[in-house]
Amino acid sequence: MSQTETKPFEHLIFDRLIRRANIVTMAKKNDYGIIENGAVGISNGRIVYVGADKSKLNAKETIDADGQWLLPGLIDCHTHLIYGGNRAHEFAMRLNGATYEEIAKAGGGIISSVKATRQASEQELFDSATKRLESLIAEGVTTIEIKSGYGLDLDTELKMLRVAKKIGETYPIRIAPTFLGAHALPPEYKDNSDGYIDLVCNEMIPTVAKEQLATSVDVFCENIGFSYQQTEKIFKTAKKHGLQIKLHAEQLSDQNGATLVAQYDGLSADHLEYLSQNSIEQMAKHSTVATLLPGAFYFLRETKLPPIQALREADVPMAIATDHNPGTSPCLSILLIMNMACTLFKMTPLEALQGVTINAAKALGLNNEIGSIEIGKKAELVLWNIGHPNQLSYQFGSSPENTLFT
Ligand code: NIG
Ligand code: FE
Repeated sequence: MSQTETKPFEHLIFDRLIRRANIVTMAKKNDYGIIENGAVGISNGRIVYVGADKSKLNAKETIDADGQWLLPGLIDCHTHLIYGGNRAHEFAMRLNGATYEEIAKAGGGIISSVKATRQASEQELFDSATKRLESLIAEGVTTIEIKSGYGLDLDTELKMLRVAKKIGETYPIRIAPTFLGAHALPPEYKDNSDGYIDLVCNEMIPTVAKEQLATSVDVFCENIGFSYQQTEKIFKTAKKHGLQIKLHAEQLSDQNGATLVAQYDGLSADHLEYLSQNSIEQMAKHSTVATLLPGAFYFLRETKLPPIQALREADVPMAIATDHNPGTSPCLSILLIMNMACTLFKMTPLEALQGVTINAAKALGLNNEIGSIEIGKKAELVLWNIGHPNQLSYQFGSSPENTLFT
């Protein structure tokens, strides 16, 4: 019996039944897993039936999809959604020739967002972040990863993570919170980078873990971020506290960070423009997801492409995400990111959709719960008024109509 075919269900009454839907299960390797004119039965928030639309199926509530396309809810698996201010002035500086690294070294970049975030109240951060979130939800996003990292002191990092938690309690959306204390060196620790890493490891991670404010820890491993050795120290501490790990790796240069995160069985290595073949092999060996971020590639006017074909050949799962943040990707459209993954990275529309469903779920360690339409998974679904799932990558600048079921 296949995953999608079921025992006789005629005697069961589901809580909810979505029928006459073209179902895109995303449950098969290298395939949309389409079931034409199918039905999905849901009970207690979980999928209990996926298959043919039989007239005998029964439910307390029935939804007639009328031939629309039912997909897993979209997952934005890498964002910096919460921050104060914006950095439009830096965009203008970059267009006049300054590089991202030069702006960061001159005290701008991430640190200018840190100043604005420290000044903002919890309510102000909540209000600005939820406005952004609403744009993502309007495009069928039902799960979002949110990183801290614009506090760089204990109080502000906790403030950001509390805002992330409150967003999850307020909106019908799943939040995956990530602690990114090692995002940049705060001004108070100028010339004392190791001292800051001690603070991250000795105070911040233990507090975040104790207060259960994050499920993962991330680091910006880069010349203008933190070294391989400092990153490894943070990974060891995170693991000791039962937190999962991921990494901003190989965005501006090859630091061998993807090898490190893979060897620590990390969830994902993200960005990866400067990824080496050796790191690809390590990622394949440890099933570490490659999270590709075409919005940052585009906005930084990067010319070095991530090694998509080599990742494909090595069978490394590829996720894609908005990387929404004020410095390198102020993008609030997951559909535009899917389109960019195809146009800029030459991914296929199927790979783009895998990148925001099943592979994004893997990048968050949530692939047993979400990311495909399969029996036992959470019923976090979106019904789209489209003619084929390819259309989600094709259209840009506007979203097809959709209805969320969460
Ligand atoms: O994913 N590169 C590090 N972090 C972010 C940028 C953060 C910022 O510039 O504010 C990124 O690109
Ligand atoms: Fe990022």
